[in-house]
Amino acid sequence: MRFIQRLIQNLPLNLAKEPTMLPSYYEYYNPVKIISGNKALDNLPYELSQLNAQKPLIITDKGVVKAGLMRHVTVAFDAANMDVGAIYDEVPPDSSNQVVNQIADVFRHNDCDAIVAVGGGSPIDTAKAVNIVVTENADDLLAFEGADRLKTPQKPFIVIPTTAGTGSEVTLAAVIKNTEKKIKMTFSSPLLLPKVAIIDPRMTLTMPPHITAATGMDALTHAMEGYTCLQKNPLSDAHAYAGIKLIRTFLIRAVKDGKDAEARVGMANAATMAGAAFSNSMVGMIHSLGHATGAVCSVPHGVAMSIFLPFGLEYNLEKTENAVAELLLPFGGEEEYAKTAASKRARRTIALVREFQQTLKDLCGLPMTLEQAGVPKDKLEDIAKAAINDGTLVYNPVEMDLNDALGVLNAAYQ
Ligand SMILES: NC(=O)c1ccc[n+]([C@@H]2O[C@H](COP(=O)([O-])OP(=O)(O)OC[C@H]3O[C@@H](n4cnc5c(N)ncnc54)[C@H](O)[C@@H]3O)[C@@H](O)[C@H]2O)c1
Ligand SMILES: [Fe+2]
Repeated sequence: MRFIQRLIQNLPLNLAKEPTMLPSYYEYYNPVKIISGNKALDNLPYELSQLNAQKPLIITDKGVVKAGLMRHVTVAFDAANMDVGAIYDEVPPDSSNQVVNQIADVFRHNDCDAIVAVGGGSPIDTAKAVNIVVTENADDLLAFEGADRLKTPQKPFIVIPTTAGTGSEVTLAAVIKNTEKKIKMTFSSPLLLPKVAIIDPRMTLTMPPHITAATGMDALTHAMEGYTCLQKNPLSDAHAYAGIKLIRTFLIRAVKDGKDAEARVGMANAATMAGAAFSNSMVGMIHSLGHATGAVCSVPHGVAMSIFLPFGLEYNLEKTENAVAELLLPFGGEEEYAKTAASKRARRTIALVREFQQTLKDLCGLPMTLEQAGVPKDKLEDIAKAAINDGTLVYNPVEMDLNDALGVLNAAYQ
């Protein structure tokens, strides 16, 4: 039974009290087939045929098209003599329920039978939401907001990520903006998980440095926040831990040299691992604040994550000190871990996150404060109000009320 239901029904959660203790109850689920490597994308038509799909709708955005990435997709279809049902290439950043409903019409008018997302989190989450609408044969996405509202197996769905950040290719969640209410809605269900994720390094080589940095910090947040959130378990920890090690090794390299294919595939795998981790452990207040900042002020998700990560780790420290101390090993390396006294390791991890941020700011201008990200100070109250109603807060180890949310936002402002 899923954690959230146990919470609602007041059943024991049996969480581990210390990070080294195993929880006496946990669930871990990730059935996504992962194909990673050079020219992995060439397998797309075969994977679709294995799912009995003949007319896929491809969902992408203008940035991906402009970067020339659709060429690799077309070549793969041509080589396999397979037709594409339709292409929708106008997904906006943080797309909305209106966009989703519109794309569902494109799917129906072209008699499509499968969905392929090519892009970052925006096209991937949009595709997940389109799949809900077409599978449920609904007019509007809004009816399905929340956790575990879906009962019907979704249409065949394959994801080709072109950013290395959200991990949405292996998560059970979709985040879609509600433009009227100025909030980001979360849709979560194991049925939203794609059937296949294809990680091809050619697809991330074109990401500019600031998007590489921001999306990479989203992945780091998934791993670190996932390692400390209420639903953490040994399997999510293993993925988070391995993801952090890869991010430490490869993110700065990928920002410095976008054509470094080893760093790109390392980051893409890191993002996928961090996604697998947090899809099970879930994420907490860093994401609550990030979703709210994105919805109220359109700050890109990865930028918001990067700004809030050290503040969120600090805020939760009373409950998570041991776990954050453990992260010094993958994030700081063996020498750093060995030379730091046990009582200082958690603080040192957070200090290293700030040093990492500073390096990224120096390399590509990644904002370190809300002010640098262009957030007007008079919007902090609206952001705080949206944050405390965000679904991710349920999984945060420490309760965050409106005052605390405002406190963190003010601390992150300058
Ligand atoms: N479902 C989840 O589990 C989950 C997790 C985290 C974030 N999200 C959501 O994901 C969205 C953000 O996704 P994102 O950070 O991947 O950004 P994005 O998809 O919005 O892409 C950012 C920009 O980068 C461009 N781009 C993407 N790949 C490129 C490439 N290879 N070369 C050149 N340009 C490229 C895009 O065109 C776009 O302009 C947000 O809506 C966020 O809420 C979802
Ligand atoms: Fe995220």
